[in-house]
Amino acid sequence: MPKRKCAAVVLAAGLGTRMKSNKAKVLHEMAGLPMVCYCVRTAFKCKFSPIVVVVGHQGDLVEKVLREFLPKADLRFVTQKQQLGTGHAMKMAKPALKDFKGDVAILYGDVPLLRSKTLLEFFRVHTQSKLQGSVMSLFLDNPDGYGRMQLDKDQNLVKIVEEKDADEQQKKIQEVNSGIYIVDCKALFSKLNGLKKNNAQGEYYLTDAISKLAKQTPVGVILLENPIELTGINNRSDLALVTAALQEQINEYWMRQGVTLLDPASTYIDAQTIIGIDTTVAPNVCLRGKTKIGTGCLIEAGSFIKDAVIKNDVTVLPYSVIEGSTVGTGCQIGPFARIRPGTKVGEDCKVGNFVEMKKVTTGKNTKISHLAYMGDAKLGDNINVGAGTITCNYDGVNKFTTTIADGVFIGSDSQLIAPVKVGKRAYIASGSTITEDVPADALAVSRADQKNIKGAAKRIAKRNRAIKKAGKK
Ligand code: UD1
Ligand code: CA
Repeated sequence: MPKRKCAAVVLAAGLGTRMKSNKAKVLHEMAGLPMVCYCVRTAFKCKFSPIVVVVGHQGDLVEKVLREFLPKADLRFVTQKQQLGTGHAMKMAKPALKDFKGDVAILYGDVPLLRSKTLLEFFRVHTQSKLQGSVMSLFLDNPDGYGRMQLDKDQNLVKIVEEKDADEQQKKIQEVNSGIYIVDCKALFSKLNGLKKNNAQGEYYLTDAISKLAKQTPVGVILLENPIELTGINNRSDLALVTAALQEQINEYWMRQGVTLLDPASTYIDAQTIIGIDTTVAPNVCLRGKTKIGTGCLIEAGSFIKDAVIKNDVTVLPYSVIEGSTVGTGCQIGPFARIRPGTKVGEDCKVGNFVEMKKVTTGKNTKISHLAYMGDAKLGDNINVGAGTITCNYDGVNKFTTTIADGVFIGSDSQLIAPVKVGKRAYIASGSTITEDVPADALAVSRADQKNIKGAAKRIAKRNRAIKKAGKK
């Protein structure tokens, strides 16, 4: 028997009024990804194809986000201009599925935690039963707000009653409609024709189409055990609750992959972040975006790393910030270092406390240990940058590059006025202001000569005492 094909339709047109936001609800982020990405990814993982997304509010943006996120998926977008109900939204998907034969899974853009494993199991039971339609239900202590499942004695669906249309007896039913269905495509669209909106909300209900189908042929009901998978997001409190559950899953995953999290409850790892084995992550660390951390690293407390590549055996000491940069194998960063986008730190380098780097590349074994600013600079191997060194890269209009060759020693409190080049093994004396290129093997000194004036300190002290005394009178 050929395997049945399954498409997916994701309903994501709702405004999300209760989010009180200028941004469409499905674009609100969870662990660094817009919410809508999760259910579309689930459908993609199940190999459901095509995936039709019904968009409304900020539909262009939703489309852009999803196409970038899943470039290989057969995504089709349809617009529902007015939100006239779930049945109406589903109807919008019809043109996008006109040449499709098989089943269609219906998912919600604001129900992000449904796992592909669960959905595939639902699909398996549905296909095995050879029914035209199946509904995923859940049992809730407090079923408020959900559509209630009216079942017959064989546990097949009689109808779904929306809470606002339910009588007292029906309201007592605790088995509710998750809103996730798998239905034969042709049967579904035939039932969507002629839906009426003579209900409490004046909407075209998708549940009515399912109930109509149930009148004609048995509709299966599959009870899901884990309600968090079907929790929908309506407001920012739901968003926090579901995000916390998601973060717990992500952290659990990395621990199972061989990463030590000293305090999982205070560790924030985005959905697209990757971490190698034997890496330890201390409390209050945020690993954001497409960060990739190698094996055997130590990421100390309070560090924030976003869209960065950290190679193997790197130590990031507390409270360091690294964004959009690469840090080579064996480096030691921080504490309190700030590595800004466009930086590439070579192997075995040291970037110490209160060092800021921006658009800098370094070779191997270069040390910038304390209190320095390196911006728009190219550094070679085995360089020592002294405390307080500054590359003066900006003249108020343009940015200029500083180039420092292998083996250079830069004495503390030096300024390099870019554009400027320092040749191999050159030595810059402390406190120098370097405005011209320094040749290889040269010593550059640029500071005023020192004068010692005998006894002058005594005279100053005497004067100061006199001023203080006069002030007290
Ligand atoms: C729906 C079900 C209800 C079920 C509940 C589960 C109906 C009539 N009711 O109710 O039985 O218990 O989900 O969460 O289907 N949407 C559109 N366009 C619209 C309306 C909705 O795209 O015109 C989208 C929303 O963005 C959302 C989803 O459909 O992602 C569900 O809509 P919502 O209004 O939240 O339905 P519920 O009232 O929760
Ligand atoms: Ca809802």
